[in-house]
Amino acid sequence: MSVGHGKVILLGEHAVVYGRPALAAALPGGAEATAEPAARARLEVEPWGVAVDADTPGDEHDEPLRNAFCAVLDRYPQRPALRVCVEMFLPGSAGLGGSAALSVAMVRAIDAALGLTRDDAAVADIALAAERVFHGNPSGIDSALAASGGLALYRKGAPLEPLPARRALTLVVSHSGEPGATHSTVASVARQYERDPAKLEQTFDAIEALVLNGKSAIAAGELSNLGQLMILNQKLLVGLLLSTPRLEQMCQAAQDAGALGAKLTGGGGGGCMIALCEDEPAAERVKAALEALEYEAFITEVGA
Ligand code: MEV
Repeated sequence: MSVGHGKVILLGEHAVVYGRPALAAALPGGAEATAEPAARARLEVEPWGVAVDADTPGDEHDEPLRNAFCAVLDRYPQRPALRVCVEMFLPGSAGLGGSAALSVAMVRAIDAALGLTRDDAAVADIALAAERVFHGNPSGIDSALAASGGLALYRKGAPLEPLPARRALTLVVSHSGEPGATHSTVASVARQYERDPAKLEQTFDAIEALVLNGKSAIAAGELSNLGQLMILNQKLLVGLLLSTPRLEQMCQAAQDAGALGAKLTGGGGGGCMIALCEDEPAAERVKAALEALEYEAFITEVGA
């Protein structure tokens, strides 16, 4: 079985598109795929119940998936005739890197069927062709983490820097119930950048400072400092018009229930929030507070 991981961005989304570093952690096993010889190239994704044939345009809704599949197939010397079956374990449009997990699992399954081996960076590079279809102008962080797993600092164009964490990070991940739309939030930040590049550069510089401090906090196991940095990052994301009233309510509820810090994760405009907690019992309290407001939530440990 070929696997691609999901991810959460701890610090630095959006600024990472503009060459700043970001800190991210993989959510293991976001997608699994298999591939077998077939009469023509076909991709099936469960539990979405979606199937696309590479050579046959489908309905408008499925076209991005077909185009992403074709973008990957076109990275091989000849389009391989394979039936690729992907099983998703992450919600889509959640900011959790579902499309990158799907793309990486797909590339690995195709490689396995063709008897090819390549390293994580090369897998991520092919998966990025699909991510460009889904997200327009991705930094590459999602596909890099989807291929590598673990906890890492990412900067566009540079090798992924795995980070040894002093202790595992306990996170509550909670969905706002609003679909995240990375494609449109990235485009919205690009429009803001066009209007006032100097102001946006200042914001990205501030985010970079938080990311670099976050890297030190993780190395030293200083969780409360990391939590404070997440709170500050959220304020800068609010300034970029990327949060929503529901995400704000969730961050506040998580902090009121004892989280060390909370922020949106990924593209924003909906999707998920993450809350950093001292330990598992603290995470249970934060999860219960979010569920009392009728938000779905789960607890995960990253960087162990
Ligand atoms: C998406 O997970 C994170 C963004 O920074 C976009 C990207 O880096 O491709 C919003």
